[in-house]
Amino acid sequence: MKKRFSPALAGIVAALVLVPGLAIAEESGHHEIPRQPWSFSGFTGQFDKAQLQRGFQVYKEVCSNCHGLKRIAFRNLVQPGGPQFPEAAVKALAAEWPNKITDGPNDQGKMFERPARLSDPILGPYKNDEEARAAQNGALPPDLSLMARARDVERESPWYIHPFLMLGDILKGYQEGGADYIYALMTGFKDPPAGFHMVDGKFYNTAFPGHQISMPPPLSDGAVPYQDGTPQKLDNYAHDVAAFLSWAADPSLDQRKRIGWQVILYLIVTTGLLYIGKRRIWSAIKH
Ligand code: HEC
Repeated sequence: MKKRFSPALAGIVAALVLVPGLAIAEESGHHEIPRQPWSFSGFTGQFDKAQLQRGFQVYKEVCSNCHGLKRIAFRNLVQPGGPQFPEAAVKALAAEWPNKITDGPNDQGKMFERPARLSDPILGPYKNDEEARAAQNGALPPDLSLMARARDVERESPWYIHPFLMLGDILKGYQEGGADYIYALMTGFKDPPAGFHMVDGKFYNTAFPGHQISMPPPLSDGAVPYQDGTPQKLDNYAHDVAAFLSWAADPSLDQRKRIGWQVILYLIVTTGLLYIGKRRIWSAIKH
């Protein structure tokens, strides 16, 4: 007897493979770094403009004292899909930015400093890494432009469960590991556990690998005065700045997801049209 492909059997096999995987993915929520709800998560998520504006405020008032954001230009803050501040406000902000732009050479062949314009990058306070290290006790505050893409969260699961977790992440479209990490880093400053040996000048942090970080706790309740009524809590600051840095690392996310869906819709319609066309053309032929 000829063996036939059985959809029912294939379904059962797929269910046996997938369901435990998904169940494990859901159950093993006990990670060191828990996942946060983000407006921009999943296949359809988009950035929340108000949150990006608050996140930028946190960056400007706190993080920019040590960290640059050099892959983002001031004009990016005006563009759709981002914080979308009014252009005039950003122009004024650029002109007042404490870290001036080195330009030149001028008529005398000298380099000179001038205030930033819309097209200039958002610079950190230090001219170079050496100056940053000298000011920060030997530690280098990294540029934050791509930080949300450069970090991820580790899964603490046995190797044989890992593929299922990965599959679950793919099905959910999970790519917010960087934001989850930054949130955990901002909220992870704690007293070290008894007996933990701390190096002088370092701070205990539950999220940072090795748990000793050279960054002093940057945020605490009330540190940044929000204008839109959002409670001025560490938790909100941490979410907002992590969302803002996620945008900075991927400024075209909104547009990309929107176009993705439009393309899928287009392909579905085209498939239908081609199918109808095919039936029409072949209907004249007897078979
Ligand atoms: C007083 C200076 C200072 C301020 C203010 C500051 N940082 Fe840092 N930050 C540092 C230093 C120094 C490091 C490097 C730490 C190390 O390597 O141990 C660092 C590292 C980091 C890292 C990288 C951690 C890693 O995994 O390597 C992130 C992310 C970060 N900071 C985010 C922020 C954010 C967000 C803010 C604002 C809310 C902020 N920082 C404010 C000094 C600062």
